[in-house]
Amino acid sequence: MKIFAQFLKNTTLIVLIWFSATAQAQPMQGCSSVSQKACEVAKSLGKGINLGNMLDAPKEGDWGVKVEPEYFDLIAEKFTTVRIPIRWSNHASSSQLAIIDESFFQRVEMIVDKFLARGMYVIIDMHHYNQLMGAQLHNGEVKIEENVLEARFLNMWLQISQRFAHKSDKLFYELLNEPHNKLQGEKWHSLMNQGIAVIRKNEPNRILLVGPDYYNNISALAKFQPPKDKNIVISIHDYTPFTFTHQNISWLFTKDMRDVKCCSYSQQKEMETIFKVAADWSVLNGYPLYLGEFGSYEKGDMVSRVAYTKKVVQLATQYQINWAFWEFSSSFGVFDPKTNSWRDPLLRSLME
Ligand code: BGC
Repeated sequence: MKIFAQFLKNTTLIVLIWFSATAQAQPMQGCSSVSQKACEVAKSLGKGINLGNMLDAPKEGDWGVKVEPEYFDLIAEKFTTVRIPIRWSNHASSSQLAIIDESFFQRVEMIVDKFLARGMYVIIDMHHYNQLMGAQLHNGEVKIEENVLEARFLNMWLQISQRFAHKSDKLFYELLNEPHNKLQGEKWHSLMNQGIAVIRKNEPNRILLVGPDYYNNISALAKFQPPKDKNIVISIHDYTPFTFTHQNISWLFTKDMRDVKCCSYSQQKEMETIFKVAADWSVLNGYPLYLGEFGSYEKGDMVSRVAYTKKVVQLATQYQINWAFWEFSSSFGVFDPKTNSWRDPLLRSLME
């Protein structure tokens, strides 16, 4: 009897060890619905930075920052991926053909080439095409006839993919930053699939990023229908806890929130939960994820901003999700353009 009990104990122990070993071996991200190439790309993107508020301003410089020549080396020394938000819609004719200004195209191409030449992965997106989503226009944003908005979206991608088709396969396109408002559900899925079809005419294999509606929010993944395309990575954004990351921003509902700290036990739990939701979705659906934006506004205190950044990086590492910090040198930035130096505590929290 004693021997039998011992046997039972040993067997249980072995089974338990086996269970925990296989649980640990479970991939944190799914890749079964995409090509091996897309899967490898998602795993290789590493640490990234958004060149925010530069080419996505109505005109470069309107929001106080520009892509300066010295940034190429600075960024390439620290990051492996650069995400370049671009407001193509304000640099294209207002007709449905949306002919992109040649000088703007050249500017974008020069910037893309500089980063590619340094061996970086480069993501270019379509950012702040506000009117397409029925969102409020920014100062300096050209108003377009409503009935050509979608055709313009498709024709801009047609031109971009014709122009960049010969570029390195380290260049990726992200169809639309943060679809929201009118552009949700079926409407977004339909436009997304049409956009992919346009690009695929020229570039069957280029890796594309697309994400769910509601601002690429992780909570919207559950209803997201990924495209039936193998060369896809899913883009998500996360600014949890939002009242901390977006406190005191004049254009948001959080404008009167001040001195919000991070990260209390409950804030950490909230952050952990949302990452788990994302990772579970990825494993269940077989699409790899990319965290294209996270970050905190400059009004938060630096100790909290560092704690927040470290926590996101730790969670992303745990779930094997690569990321791009929002952003380089503006009001969420890790670099201070006035003193021309890194904000060291923030930079360190990204590099750990
Ligand atoms: C928007 C920025 C904004 C940031 C943080 C980005 O997607 O383009 O204007 O500052 O998210 O909210």
